[in-house]
Amino acid sequence: MSGRDFQLKVERFDFSIKSLLALPGKGEVHVWHAATDQCTIDIERLTSILSPGEKLRAARFRFRSHRSQFILSHVMLRLLIARYLELETDQISFTYGANGKPGFARGGAEPELQFNLSHTEGLAVCAFAPHQRIGIDVEKVRSDFAMEEIAERFFSEAERQALCGLPTEESYYAFFRCWTRKEAYIKAIGDGLSHPLDQFDVSIAADSAALISTRPDALEASRWSIQAVPVPAGYVAALAIETPGDIPRSNGTLPMRRELTFS
Ligand SMILES: CC(C)(COP(=O)(O)OP(=O)(O)OC[C@H]1O[C@@H](n2cnc3c(N)ncnc32)[C@H](O)[C@@H]1OP(=O)(O)O)[C@@H](O)C(=O)NCCC(=O)NCCS
Repeated sequence: MSGRDFQLKVERFDFSIKSLLALPGKGEVHVWHAATDQCTIDIERLTSILSPGEKLRAARFRFRSHRSQFILSHVMLRLLIARYLELETDQISFTYGANGKPGFARGGAEPELQFNLSHTEGLAVCAFAPHQRIGIDVEKVRSDFAMEEIAERFFSEAERQALCGLPTEESYYAFFRCWTRKEAYIKAIGDGLSHPLDQFDVSIAADSAALISTRPDALEASRWSIQAVPVPAGYVAALAIETPGDIPRSNGTLPMRRELTFS
């Protein structure tokens, strides 16, 4: 299923955000991004927004740049949730799935809000949707690594075939498109790396992000939309979101494409 099934709104995040935010509506996904290496606000002051556990995690980073990236990513997430849900940042607590996926611990009255966070050198992104499970991944595009060996280890046979033969410059972008689409999906389902990466294929083309096929349940692919997220130059990001409604589990018949209407 293609990313056209939802409306994506992407905005640069401002750490001095004061105003409340309108929640994403049905069929909408909001993505926020922030540079974590150019923040002009005092990082110590921002750190006070974090929970004691987050402060402990931040303190464990050896390198200042990694610590700042972690702090700013988590401050951004807390501030956004607070502005969406009209909460103080210290009223927000998280629950964690079996493989570490954070969710919002609800007090009962808050509206439904799904989110996911990703950060890489110099950039953090947060995605929000009203109901469906969501995953996001951002990576800085690099060429100083053994691409073929990593693809051999993490990509499916079909993905490796699609990557092979591309011109060198294009192949690095294609690699990171594939990587972020795979990560967005395993983050959306919450499994992280416990999910076998060779049991599904994503597209690698720039103009058609998709979860192409899933194994052993072929219908799983039709339950998800994947979309490239426009982020600053030098980065690649992708989003995976569950399609709304119940799509029946595989029973040997072909999947019916659902027509989705959003306001
Ligand atoms: C969840 C996972 C997939 C994310 O890893 P990552 O790309 O290194 O990190 P990202 O910045 O995209 O995401 C991290 C955030 O996702 C969230 N997260 C953690 N576990 C998660 C899970 N199981 N599902 C969804 N989100 C999760 C957290 O908010 C986390 O932030 P924090 O670490 O600062 O607390 C992790 O399991 C992992 O180990 N990845 C290794 C990368 C890899 O080898 N990928 C191969 C794919 S082709």
